[in-house]
Amino acid sequence: MSALPPEPSEPEARDLLGVRYPNTARVWNYHLRGKDNFEADRQAAEAVNVLFREMGVPSASDTAVETRHLLQRMVDYMLGQGVRQFLDLGSGLPNMANTHQIARRTAPEARIVYVDIDPMVSSHASALMAGSNVITLQADLREPEQVLSSPQVRDLLDFGQPVGIIFICMLHCLWDREDPWGVVRQFRDAVAPGSYLGLSHMTDETHEQAAQAVFQMTQDLHWNTPLISRSRADIARYFDGFTLVEPGLVTPSQWRPELHKPLRDPRGDDDDDAPVLKLIVAEPSQDDRSTWNLCGVGVKDQL
Ligand SMILES: C[S@@+](CC[C@H](N)C(=O)[O-])C[C@H]1O[C@@H](n2cnc3c(N)ncnc32)[C@H](O)[C@@H]1O
Repeated sequence: MSALPPEPSEPEARDLLGVRYPNTARVWNYHLRGKDNFEADRQAAEAVNVLFREMGVPSASDTAVETRHLLQRMVDYMLGQGVRQFLDLGSGLPNMANTHQIARRTAPEARIVYVDIDPMVSSHASALMAGSNVITLQADLREPEQVLSSPQVRDLLDFGQPVGIIFICMLHCLWDREDPWGVVRQFRDAVAPGSYLGLSHMTDETHEQAAQAVFQMTQDLHWNTPLISRSRADIARYFDGFTLVEPGLVTPSQWRPELHKPLRDPRGDDDDDAPVLKLIVAEPSQDDRSTWNLCGVGVKDQL
């Protein structure tokens, strides 16, 4: 695999399947060692890893796995608070550690809605994650009404009861002009007090140059979404109307590490304890500079 980023070029209009250019869902799938990706995605993913390595920034592949482990801890935390229904927004291609699998270890009756704009996500997710109390919706989260007014969603979720809203590594795909804060606000306003918001978001706080470089790469290579790192203050604003639970807005490895209980590989031939998703390089570090994400969970305030 080439270590050099592919050359920037003008986008071609006739890319009907969207395979010529990197696609965020498929790039993330590659980082998670999935097979649902194309050459353009793999090249872009490796180019980011090379760039980050040169800049002394943790690899995107480890970050992808780390944030899936974070998802496990956040979902288990919300389950512990009594949440039994989840809206996983920008859920990505199915992998081996999905929200419904995590939730059902504790609550087999849990109800989960996966939402993603990507047609490949929705076809794979519908095929692989079908079942009672799990639905996948193809929708554009820039228009929350597409989700909130969907009869499928309203049939499955009870908006009078707390919902766990999850935005893991998704809101940085939206431009400021698309008002990601307004998107979160609309979901907040639709759910009952006592609902939870869990999110993880790229920040420029720790590695400013790398944040700028990866954004530029998304533009030069015509990714289907930008990747926009934001400041701590801008990420904190997503929690307007929520109270952040301890330990607040922190790096993923600092968020309740004691809840770490990854899904295990049921085949577990040689190592019964093998998590289904393993970090490649290193165990998560408590060092702030070991990440380019900030994360937190908030509980919706009483009215
Ligand atoms: C980096 S991936 C994260 C996937 C998953 N949440 C995870 O952490 O593994 C971002 C996901 O957001 C989805 N996405 C981006 N923009 C979106 C939009 N406007 N509406 C719905 N989904 C979107 C992408 O298709 C992609 O699957």
